[in-house]
Amino acid sequence: LNIAILASGSGSNAQAMIDKAAAGVLDVNICCIVCNRPGAGVIERARKAGVTCVVLDHEEFADRESYDREVVQTLQEHGTQLVVLAGYMRMLSTAFLDAFSGRVINIHPALLPSFPGVHGGVDACEYGVKISGCTVHFVEEKMDSGPVIIQAAVPVNPDEEVDDLMQRIHAMEHRIYPQAIQWFAQNRINVWGREVHVAPGKA
Ligand code: GRF
Repeated sequence: LNIAILASGSGSNAQAMIDKAAAGVLDVNICCIVCNRPGAGVIERARKAGVTCVVLDHEEFADRESYDREVVQTLQEHGTQLVVLAGYMRMLSTAFLDAFSGRVINIHPALLPSFPGVHGGVDACEYGVKISGCTVHFVEEKMDSGPVIIQAAVPVNPDEEVDDLMQRIHAMEHRIYPQAIQWFAQNRINVWGREVHVAPGKA
């Protein structure tokens, strides 16, 4: 399976995928990484790993449509079969989602549908939830919505600092995101309405 990772930041999730693919526990080829922010950490990670990284600065495009057109073309040129959003801080246009229908997934640092949004992880902690976690889901037009593929719970420790909790959630992301991708690569994911079913794997 050819996956493309879209990222805007440090790229620790991308790194987890690079490492697991190299270790042979994630059966994918990372055909390219697309980054919209020049200077983002993910670019250096890609370089070190020898993964093609295309930097497309959204500020150089007139609007979302023209930017997304360029991204879609780049993804298609690299033979992308699954689009993996990993800290990609941009909304996707309808044209983008149509081009990769049912083939775009995202990770969010909270238990959706609670606490969507850019600050969802911190919002959950500040709300005082006792259990938080992370969610991998298919991407729909509305932010942080779409059929849930996998979630992991992370209990909040009493008096824990937000940063510490976010770090523990982040570590959990590095486990569940590759798992979701592996299920997809093994063709085990079925979506019925809004419900995702994962077929059992071969023993
Ligand atoms: C993660 O917390 C993810 O849940 C959110 O963006 C962050 C990306 O982190 N969507 P990284 O760049 O992979 O380290």
